[in-house]
Amino acid sequence: MDNVAVLGPGGVGGLLGALLARSGAMVTCVAGPSTVAVLDEQGIRVESGEFGDFTVPVRAVERLADPVDVVLVAVKATQLDEALDRLPADVVGSALVVPLLNGVEHVDLLRPRYPDATVVPATVRVESTRIAPGVVHHGSPFLAVELAEDGGTSAAVRRFGADLEKAGVAVKVSDDAATVMWSKLTFLTALALLTTSAQQTAGEVREHRRDDLVAMVGEIAAVAQAQGATVEADDVVAFFDGIPAGMRSSMQRDAEADNRLELDAIGGAVVRAAGRHGIPVPVTDHYVDELRNRYRS
Ligand SMILES: NC(=O)c1ccc[n+]([C@@H]2O[C@H](COP(=O)([O-])OP(=O)(O)OC[C@H]3O[C@@H](n4cnc5c(N)ncnc54)[C@H](OP(=O)(O)O)[C@@H]3O)[C@@H](O)[C@H]2O)c1
Repeated sequence: MDNVAVLGPGGVGGLLGALLARSGAMVTCVAGPSTVAVLDEQGIRVESGEFGDFTVPVRAVERLADPVDVVLVAVKATQLDEALDRLPADVVGSALVVPLLNGVEHVDLLRPRYPDATVVPATVRVESTRIAPGVVHHGSPFLAVELAEDGGTSAAVRRFGADLEKAGVAVKVSDDAATVMWSKLTFLTALALLTTSAQQTAGEVREHRRDDLVAMVGEIAAVAQAQGATVEADDVVAFFDGIPAGMRSSMQRDAEADNRLELDAIGGAVVRAAGRHGIPVPVTDHYVDELRNRYRS
């Protein structure tokens, strides 16, 4: 199996790192000093209805010093710049770099920073929370990763996909990066902006803010299409209508906890792409402005 580094062993990174380590991969978590101390002593603890409750030992370092096959980047967008100092480009070398952040712009940020690496556009669908350093609660009955390959990267991407599958993760490999990234962003932006602004669940906003939901999804789907993605607004609204009524977004949880919001990486990225294509996105714009004025981002 691949030798994997995980930058940011939190809700997403801690869960994937623990599952990979449990299935036999060599996993090195890259984190701040206090979390490194906890991981060294206790490993990662996972509580999951889907995968069971388990603890697994992992290596932990403050800065990557030895080459690996794959680097998972799983910090929040607001933490990315600072965290990348822990991943020197000469050590990352020609590894596969798989960012699992929400948003789209980080791919273009990582590529020049790691010029010899293969940066793989990817998304993760899960609800997973770091409840303490090294302790992850996985609440969703699903964990799915989608990876985008191109002709030259297929073998390494498929090998890592097989590692993830062996670890229990549902994996899809696609040759259409724009659709991988923008189909997730279209749904997620609507979920995040509406639930955070209203401080309501997905079920409540699809009832009480139906017009804004439909309008916003329509705006973002138009931007996604201009970006070359195959995204249909009606399909995204139908998907939104099918998610559990009690679902909340991580942006909403960040707002409640007074954490910085990933507003710029999610809504901000949509507004910037819309501007580049000359597509009006008044509803999305309104929500981004309102949240920027209300919360730290
Ligand atoms: N959680 C989900 O269910 C979910 C689902 C889909 C997508 N996502 C996306 O995945 C990304 C990660 O989210 P998350 O929920 O996993 O975040 P998280 O639970 O807050 O985890 C972030 C991790 O990054 C670490 N970190 C922060 N600053 C760091 C630094 N400077 N150097 C090294 N490590 C640092 C934190 O360390 P400490 O543990 O020491 O604080 C934490 O372990 C986000 O873009 C999010 O939108 C999340």
